[in-house]
Amino acid sequence: MPTNPPTNPAHTLIPAPRTLLTHDTPTPAPHPLTPLTRLCPTTTLHTAPGTEPLAPLLRNTIGAATGLPLPGGAPTPDGIVLRLTPAVPAVPAVPAGPAGTGNPTHPEGYRLTTDRSVENVAVLLESPTPAGLFRGIQTLRQLLGPEAFRRAPLRGAGQSWALPQVSVADEPRFAWRGLMLDVARHFMPKDGVLRYLDLIAAHKLNVFHFHLTDDQGWRIEIKRHPRLTDVGAWRGRTKWGHRASPLWDEKPHGGYYTQDDIREIVAYAAERHIRVVPEIDLPGHSQAAIAAYPELGNTDVIDTASLSVWDTWGVNPNVLAPTDTTLRFYEGVLEEVLELFPEDVSPFIHIGGDECPKDQWQKSDIAQARIRELGLAGENELQSWIIRHFDTWLSARGRRLIGWDEILEGGLAPGAAVASWRGYGAGVAAAEAGHDVVMCPEQYVYLDHRQAPGAEEPMPIGFVRTLEDVYRFEPVPAGLGPEAAAHILGTQANVWTEVMENQARVDYQTFPRLAAFAEVAWSALPAPADRDFADFEARMTAHYRRLDALGVDYRPPTGPLPWQRRPGVLGRPIEGAPPNR
Ligand code: ACM
Repeated sequence: MPTNPPTNPAHTLIPAPRTLLTHDTPTPAPHPLTPLTRLCPTTTLHTAPGTEPLAPLLRNTIGAATGLPLPGGAPTPDGIVLRLTPAVPAVPAVPAGPAGTGNPTHPEGYRLTTDRSVENVAVLLESPTPAGLFRGIQTLRQLLGPEAFRRAPLRGAGQSWALPQVSVADEPRFAWRGLMLDVARHFMPKDGVLRYLDLIAAHKLNVFHFHLTDDQGWRIEIKRHPRLTDVGAWRGRTKWGHRASPLWDEKPHGGYYTQDDIREIVAYAAERHIRVVPEIDLPGHSQAAIAAYPELGNTDVIDTASLSVWDTWGVNPNVLAPTDTTLRFYEGVLEEVLELFPEDVSPFIHIGGDECPKDQWQKSDIAQARIRELGLAGENELQSWIIRHFDTWLSARGRRLIGWDEILEGGLAPGAAVASWRGYGAGVAAAEAGHDVVMCPEQYVYLDHRQAPGAEEPMPIGFVRTLEDVYRFEPVPAGLGPEAAAHILGTQANVWTEVMENQARVDYQTFPRLAAFAEVAWSALPAPADRDFADFEARMTAHYRRLDALGVDYRPPTGPLPWQRRPGVLGRPIEGAPPNR
């Protein structure tokens, strides 16, 4: 741990802003900032036209934590002003953020000034968009100190709150800054999902990839196919640990989101300027759906009626049959999905496409007849034909398909975007072929993977990927030409939950690494080897206090707390084996 963590909260911002001017910033010329300003019980919140929806968000977080009522009103010397400004004045030319210069005309860019000498208000927050203002509010919250992350004031209402004087100009590096949460392997109740949206927002991330279906559970109510949740949303028991573990949790496990739950989650995300990418995984990872509707499986190869929701982990051979029945069924599912996830929040729909073993299609007369009838070269092209079908179907409805990088096999559908998970290679190939790409290589940003070597890590699987490893992750691989690099929409961290049986385990795997990931996705960091991890760690000392205030069960830098360990539960069984889950 760093020996001299910064004391000025302005020097603890995560993710680091592009440019930051404080009273102690060394500059050639003197500048007018003094150390502190204050927010106090008389502080008003002035919302200029178009910024009104941000007021309840600010009051519900900063207002609740500080006990400041923040009534609406005209700008005052101790007040906060939110304003939409197409041309935000240029930030003072000072060396500050890690690299680059702030360009506050970026749609999510903002300028935050806590300096009464500017317009005679305590806090001036400007952006071209409400989304940018929302990102700026996250910075303001960090400036107020860790207590600003609680839900009620520790010292009662009526206090005033010191705020360091700063001038921040900031913007994100990537448009797609995501977290994928697997709620299929282990269900996360709705309140937990809303909490995760708050945690994502606090880290300036803006995409929530909602992995809703898998072999082990179907988590979204589909009115026309009620057995998807009646049957598919629960399993009788669950493998405890890695699939090679001999242990079982004999409790039934399950849960699903009603359509109203989904609408609430989507609206909650939209208020926080977070896009939601729902994933309906096909044609693999579908045993829960087949257990509910056996006609979806390869009925001429196995007795699909005998299948139940899968209770263990790994790549599952029981995949969807490539039939018209399957296509019509999933079109019906997606019709409801499109209604629940409107285009402005969910322009992308994820259809999975990963890890679909072809063994059953090889043995199936029905699948082979389809291959012949369509003149396809084999099973890979059959998978590609299914993906293309849904690409066309989604495009006709104004949406874009995204899938895992296996959708490249057998030919990529024209408008499809690729989530590159098996490394950089597929993403590079897709970007060079003009497809949009989200970089999420398992070698770097699979947060289910263990975060330290040693037997103390709970159910350790996958690669060892430390906080520093994630901090040094680079979403755009070196050598990619500028045209292809422009197709890298951004990056996301993926949280698969086979070995995370509850929210505390999800927190442990996700944090603190998501903080490092957020800085990679937002800030203009130098090349991986040149990144100042010591500086990041110093800022993390303050960020751990924020996570404490938020009630996040992160992995402490000293290792798991006793109750965070899972002694005797097998993780990846063989050192040196491939890191598959
Ligand atoms: C994946 O990890 N199967 C996308």
